[in-house]
Amino acid sequence: MPTPYLSAAFVALALLVFVVRRIFDGRTVKHIRGPPSSSFLFGHDFEYASQEEACSLEFKWMSQYGATWRTRGAFGKDYLMTVDPKATQHIMQKSGYNYTKKTTFIHSAWLLAGPGIVNVLGTDHQRHRKIMNPAFSAAHLRTFLPLFQRIASKLSDKWKGELMATGELDTLLNRWLSRATLDIIGEDLSAAFNYDYNALDGGAERSALLKGYEDIFKDLDYHPNKAAVLFRATWDYIPVSILKLIKYLPVEPWPRVRSLNNLFRAYGRQILREQGSEVDTEKKVASKDILSILIKANASEDPKTRLDDDEIIAEMFTLTLAGHETTSSTLTFLFYELSKNQKYQARMREEIRALRARVTARGGNDFTIEDLDSLTLTMNAIKETLRLHPILVGLPRVAEKDDVIPLSRPITSTTGEVITEIPVRRGQVIHVSFAGYQRLPEVWGEDVHTWNPDRWFNIESGRQTNVGVFANLMSFAAGVRACIGWRFSLIEMQALTAELVENFQFDPPAEKVEIQRALSGVIFAMFPVVKGKAEEGGAMPLKISLAQ
Ligand code: HEM
Ligand SMILES: *[C@@H]1O[C@H](CO)[C@@H](O)[C@H](O)[C@H]1NC(C)=O
Ligand SMILES: *[C@@H]1O[C@H](CO)[C@@H](O)[C@H](O)[C@H]1NC(C)=O
Repeated sequence: MPTPYLSAAFVALALLVFVVRRIFDGRTVKHIRGPPSSSFLFGHDFEYASQEEACSLEFKWMSQYGATWRTRGAFGKDYLMTVDPKATQHIMQKSGYNYTKKTTFIHSAWLLAGPGIVNVLGTDHQRHRKIMNPAFSAAHLRTFLPLFQRIASKLSDKWKGELMATGELDTLLNRWLSRATLDIIGEDLSAAFNYDYNALDGGAERSALLKGYEDIFKDLDYHPNKAAVLFRATWDYIPVSILKLIKYLPVEPWPRVRSLNNLFRAYGRQILREQGSEVDTEKKVASKDILSILIKANASEDPKTRLDDDEIIAEMFTLTLAGHETTSSTLTFLFYELSKNQKYQARMREEIRALRARVTARGGNDFTIEDLDSLTLTMNAIKETLRLHPILVGLPRVAEKDDVIPLSRPITSTTGEVITEIPVRRGQVIHVSFAGYQRLPEVWGEDVHTWNPDRWFNIESGRQTNVGVFANLMSFAAGVRACIGWRFSLIEMQALTAELVENFQFDPPAEKVEIQRALSGVIFAMFPVVKGKAEEGGAMPLKISLAQ
């Protein structure tokens, strides 16, 4: 069936389901104030997806309406949007699975990666999480530090080599960091199997897989047109069995998604075929590296701890997607901020070099985890970057049950009443904006829009509502579906930052450019682009030279 008819059929079906549901559900959040919407069909969906600068809309809305407000989704649907600490804590952290993922949101990820941990719900999710947890325990992650350090010094050596020739390197920093974190994930997935993306060695061209990943978030969903936005909005009303057919649609991004998915499945099968049988050997049974854990789960007799072949491959793909670009983009923003804050960069380098002197004096070679944790200025820079530049800017959740959402920042209703809690019905969609929460002046201070790592010396955690898994930030989400890799990522960022700031000086590029934070709408992922050149993909031009 030609695409326009197929899309029209989807829209018609969705409208029908919507109208029927509407008739039986007269309960609303209409008393909550919010920005007017000029379009019944699109609500704010199109406007939100079209933002030039990620989150500029919610920053505007929160200054107009307070910490919680109402927006419109497609087809006249009322959404809530909140940056309220207590509401965030309630929805994301305290309610278990009572606020679930939105179909539209997980289905894109599902089409890309298959039934991996990010895209499954309820008891399936519990099973995936239980199997994967041992690979991410604090104790186990300590063993990864040498890997992080090895990749960090490999990157460092590459840059030194380039600088030997040129003296100065004007480069796209994001590409280098993305290759480094991809190498780390590749080795981590298969430490026991010598499977290696070799992204740093081969450059982008050599690995078809790396090429496949490059700019996937942008291509999936950067500034979608109106038809794409509407088409996606219908997914929430369409049975999943039909949604699975979407990937066969002959319009971009679906052919791209399908081919990346096929490519990875072929790789995944090959790895499993070549290496799967080795997992029985004694060493690997005890091993907690992720691939060993996954293969053991496949052999499990207990359905509660079993993963099938499709799930294993999806898991590998999911981890690669979830674990590499998120970390490299965060680091990219960190070095961007350092290039603009030379004084802070110099202080950080001084602290790292002082530590280096102590480590050398005690006869040591590499930094230990305790050493890295003692680098307060580095840690504050990481925290501040996570606060100001959360890569996932927020997440939508859907109430599974009727509930009452408590607020720490009361709001005024359309009739002038002060509201301290909001009753919601099953099916209510709530967008929790992490970027917005992380710029609440009452929580973080008046200079919320400024990168100021020293604020972390003054933050009184007692004054804050406890949210998230780290530093009261929502960047890694919270609760049963919080980022499983947050500690992994932190240690990785600490190790890479210490190595690179110790050795290199970061400056703005020779040719002056303005950086923007672009948004991949449907997955709420943010990435840096050069203003006016977003179509060319993620970019962070910086000048790198040897530090004196
Ligand atoms: C700075 C880096 C990172 C950021 C900002 C980040 C952020 C997040 C966020 C916000 C979620 C929640 C997603 C949702 O509910 O839909 C998440 C989930 C997840 N992250 Fe991360 N992440 C980072 C690094 C990593 C790394 C390094 C790994 C793996 C090694 C990883 C693996 C995962 C997985 C598997 C999930 C799904 C967890 C679940 O649903 O149970 N992440 N991450
Ligand atoms: C989820 O909702 C049910 C029914 O409303 C409630 O009994 C339960 O305590 C909730 N779970 C959590 C973790 O809050
Ligand atoms: C997983 O289990 C199935 C059925 O038991 C088996 O056919 C398959 O080869 C296993 N896969 C791996 C990767 O071990």
